[in-house]
Amino acid sequence: METAQITKQASEKGLQWFQDIRFGMFIHWGPTSVAAQYDWHMHDARLSVPEYEKIAARLNPVKFNAEEWVSIAADAGQKYMVFTSRHHDGFSMYDTALSDYKITNPKWSPFGRDPVRELANAIAKRSDMKLGFYNSVLDWHHPAYRFREQSGLVWQDYLDFLHGQVRELCTNYGEIACMWFDGDWPNHKFDETDSYFLPGGSFEYDKLYNMIHTLQPDAVVVNNRHVIPLPGEDVQGFEQDLPGINSTGFNSTIVSDHPLEVCMTINNHWFYIKGSVNFKSTKQLVAYLARSASAGANYLLNVGPTEAGEILPVHAARLRAVGAWLKDNSESIYGTRAGVISPTAVSVSTRKGDVHYVHVLDYISDCVTLTNVPPSVQQARLLKTGEAVALERRDASVVLTIPESGRDPLDTVVVLS
Ligand code: GLC
Repeated sequence: METAQITKQASEKGLQWFQDIRFGMFIHWGPTSVAAQYDWHMHDARLSVPEYEKIAARLNPVKFNAEEWVSIAADAGQKYMVFTSRHHDGFSMYDTALSDYKITNPKWSPFGRDPVRELANAIAKRSDMKLGFYNSVLDWHHPAYRFREQSGLVWQDYLDFLHGQVRELCTNYGEIACMWFDGDWPNHKFDETDSYFLPGGSFEYDKLYNMIHTLQPDAVVVNNRHVIPLPGEDVQGFEQDLPGINSTGFNSTIVSDHPLEVCMTINNHWFYIKGSVNFKSTKQLVAYLARSASAGANYLLNVGPTEAGEILPVHAARLRAVGAWLKDNSESIYGTRAGVISPTAVSVSTRKGDVHYVHVLDYISDCVTLTNVPPSVQQARLLKTGEAVALERRDASVVLTIPESGRDPLDTVVVLS
């Protein structure tokens, strides 16, 4: 007898872990890094499959060093890395058995190595990092996604490929952090005549998510659909915006009570672009991390390594500077949940039970006036040095006066307890 399928979620342990780690590295890397133009180069330049294949065939990332990438993420205090196993261009960045269009095929790249295998091996040496995978559900190269009429293939052929690849990633590379999907945006319909977007039916998420939750019970499923999570999705994601803010036009959805994640670029784009210099400062990055945590969200910060396989030194330096700040202030980020003290123009807060961490991100006055401070709070101290901070209750507010000598130009954390 057939029973109704109940869509599983990630385990309680996996959900807790995901919410505790708060900071991850997103990595967009593939043939688009060779083009070094825009994230959607194949689509935006209207390149045909053979035209784009010429770009893919130039990928030979001789400087790729998984240990180095992992060490940058670890120094930054990041606890998971989400890697583009296959982006919209359809090129698999690992040794999949389900496609020849992949980095390990000598027809496309003399590289002959599997970056995912190397990342998984480098990560397996540590106990404080996990690997996760970005998968595009759309594919501008796959005949069963884009060229069913010409190829005689049917939608099921594409589903077999998509689900099969996810199965490979769930089985071949050890324990994973997450499966991160992209390319299905129900709020942003594409013109039916746009041949780059030709899904032939449902992605059968129920089956896909059940498979992931069965093979990797602790891994969370994220789908960058810009809407409230479906059953089987564990995390609500926000792209390039903090929860509740919608500067991009993607994030009009209300913030649900799911675990949250903000994904954001270190500059203005996901893949490497030649000559791009608009990098966020260390101060901005720390502030985004603190603001994400204060909203109960992880901060998944993207870097786009070069075609040679290097994370740009300027990105690595900024990440490591965030890590240096985190070393002194880790308690105010990891393992915290959304703050209850109202944010101000210069501050946000995180909490662990009855302990509240006020992140002072700027100084427009000698004191910070807070509202909604729980009555249990009696005292304040600097997290970094333990030095007492003057705390005064005035009617409904609490006023903190932080000595100038104790101010951190990036983010001064005051512990209220
Ligand atoms: C958007 C972009 C895609 C990118 C993703 C990362 O969906 O279209 O290229 O990979 O954001 O969040």
